[in-house]
Amino acid sequence: MVGRKTLASIIICIYWQQFLAFSQFECPSDSLIQPCSCVLTIPSHTYLLFNDFNPETIYIQQRSIVCEHIHNSTFDLQTVFVNLSDNETDFDSFLLYNTTIAHIPANVFSNVTFKSLMFQDNPMLTTIDENAFTSFKDSVEVFETLNTNLSDSKQIFSILKQFTNLRRVSMHNDRLTIIPDYAFNHTNLTNIWFGLENRRTSQPIETIGQYAFYDVPNLRLLRIFSPNLTHIDKYSYAQRKRSSSNITLHIYLGGQNLNSTSFSPTSLSRFRSRSVFLRLYYTNMTYLDELIFQPFLETHPSSIVDINYTNTNLRCDCHSAWIQYDYLRDLDQLDNRVYGYRCWATDFANCTLNI
Ligand SMILES: *[C@@H]1O[C@H](CO)[C@@H](O)[C@H](O)[C@H]1NC(C)=O
Ligand SMILES: *[C@@H]1O[C@H](CO)[C@@H](O)[C@H](O)[C@H]1NC(C)=O
Ligand SMILES: *[C@@H]1O[C@H](CO)[C@@H](O)[C@H](O)[C@H]1NC(C)=O
Ligand SMILES: *[C@@H]1O[C@H](CO)[C@@H](O)[C@H](O)[C@H]1NC(C)=O
Ligand SMILES: *[C@@H]1O[C@H](CO)[C@@H](O)[C@H](O)[C@H]1NC(C)=O
Ligand SMILES: *[C@@H]1O[C@H](CO)[C@@H](O)[C@H](O)[C@H]1NC(C)=O
Ligand SMILES: *[C@@H]1O[C@H](CO)[C@@H](O)[C@H](O)[C@H]1NC(C)=O
Ligand SMILES: *[C@@H]1O[C@H](CO)[C@@H](O)[C@H](O)[C@H]1NC(C)=O
Ligand SMILES: *[C@@H]1O[C@H](CO)[C@@H](O)[C@H](O)[C@H]1NC(C)=O
Ligand SMILES: *[C@@H]1O[C@H](CO)[C@@H](O)[C@H](O)[C@H]1NC(C)=O
Ligand SMILES: *[C@@H]1O[C@H](CO)[C@@H](O)[C@H](O)[C@H]1NC(C)=O
Ligand SMILES: *[C@@H]1O[C@H](CO)[C@@H](O)[C@H](O)[C@H]1NC(C)=O
Repeated sequence: MVGRKTLASIIICIYWQQFLAFSQFECPSDSLIQPCSCVLTIPSHTYLLFNDFNPETIYIQQRSIVCEHIHNSTFDLQTVFVNLSDNETDFDSFLLYNTTIAHIPANVFSNVTFKSLMFQDNPMLTTIDENAFTSFKDSVEVFETLNTNLSDSKQIFSILKQFTNLRRVSMHNDRLTIIPDYAFNHTNLTNIWFGLENRRTSQPIETIGQYAFYDVPNLRLLRIFSPNLTHIDKYSYAQRKRSSSNITLHIYLGGQNLNSTSFSPTSLSRFRSRSVFLRLYYTNMTYLDELIFQPFLETHPSSIVDINYTNTNLRCDCHSAWIQYDYLRDLDQLDNRVYGYRCWATDFANCTLNI
């Protein structure tokens, strides 16, 4: 039986915990960080752009700092954080929004630390010092950009490499043209976004380096949307580890300059028996090359290719016959492995099998 005293102490305990939780979220006075401000909620840009209902992206419910609507060429971000360093140092997110800042210097935040770094609508922002965030590199889990002038891949990917606990990277409408060789090397990284399939954003990537995603064993979602991409290298998507989990890797890829000859031999076969859901969007492909896509479908019994959003140019000619021959869907449609293929009923009797 629970006595009165015990009950009272339980209630006090609950109130105490709520008080602690509350004070942990309390903001320092804005005068300390002018012209920036402290807020308790920031909507993630992937929610705003995409209705991304992943709970962590809707609103960040922790103490965060926003520097917004600053168009003063003498504004110095560093001085804001020198003041704050003497007060509070642990914050959840930093958002730089609608400013004309061009450069983020080394150690910009003094002793202040963040878990998420977000840079949105800073059209002049061109460079970030490689040591801008080094002092708290192990705290950073989320890195997001949208509408910046960032173009130096060497610099950006050197910064990302420092974030050993990175979980999510989301970069849209910047000027990055290269994803370097071995770009990602992060155990906890699950989501990488460069542009969106709804065509609201993209990233002008021309080159995806070799083994760019090789050491990202827990990757679940990889989006690359670029109008400037013409070629998928043989090693670009290669995975290092045979997956120990059953988690499907979702690869979403789109760009009007990708065509049926863009994929190098074996570029879609280096998944080490991991199941992959490959979705292609708004490409200029007219057929799926049997030598690329048939081995892809055989890398894992659950791997799937979805061409529903790129099939407007797709022709039901002999190039596409193999899908019907090999992957003719069951009458109950349970085993369809090529979503959006329009030629299930085409008569391919003309086509010679190359035996
Ligand atoms: C931080 O600033 C607040 C007021 O904004 C003040 O009450 C608090 O004592 C300061 N804390 C430290 C450690 O200086
Ligand atoms: C950006 O900041 C300027 C100056 O404060 C303001 O006039 C403008 O409305 C802001 N733009 C957005 C989209 O908030
Ligand atoms: C611009 O920023 C500087 C330093 O932060 C400040 O002293 C100055 O008053 C600001 N000017 C305007 C017009 O806001
Ligand atoms: C901030 O870091 C400096 C050294 O880089 C240190 O001297 C100072 O005490 C720190 N301030 C706080 C509030 O931790
Ligand atoms: C990854 O996440 C786990 C659990 O959240 C954590 O213990 C670990 O330190 C993180 N970092 C790395 C590099 O694995
Ligand atoms: C990947 O990261 C690990 C530890 O985080 C490091 O030991 C290794 O050298 C890195 N590999 C590459 C290719 O950067
Ligand atoms: C990428 O492609 C778009 C659309 O075709 C074009 O406007 C832009 O100039 C290209 N960007 C680069 C860096 O080549
Ligand atoms: C993977 O899936 C199979 C069958 O669906 C199941 O038996 C196995 O336990 C799963 N393995 C892991 C690591 O989840
Ligand atoms: C895509 O293909 C069509 C013909 O099928 C061609 O007219 C168009 O120029 C191509 N677009 C690009 C970006 O290559
Ligand atoms: C595919 O794209 C490449 C590079 O953009 C181009 O050279 C080639 O002519 C295109 N092939 C077809 C069939 O459109
Ligand atoms: C296929 O794409 C069309 C638009 O092109 C869309 O209306 C339809 O819902 C899609 N079907 C599937 C199964 O995704
Ligand atoms: C088969 O040949 C006929 C007559 O040449 C042609 O109209 C039809 O398009 C061909 N079918 C395929 C799948 O190529």
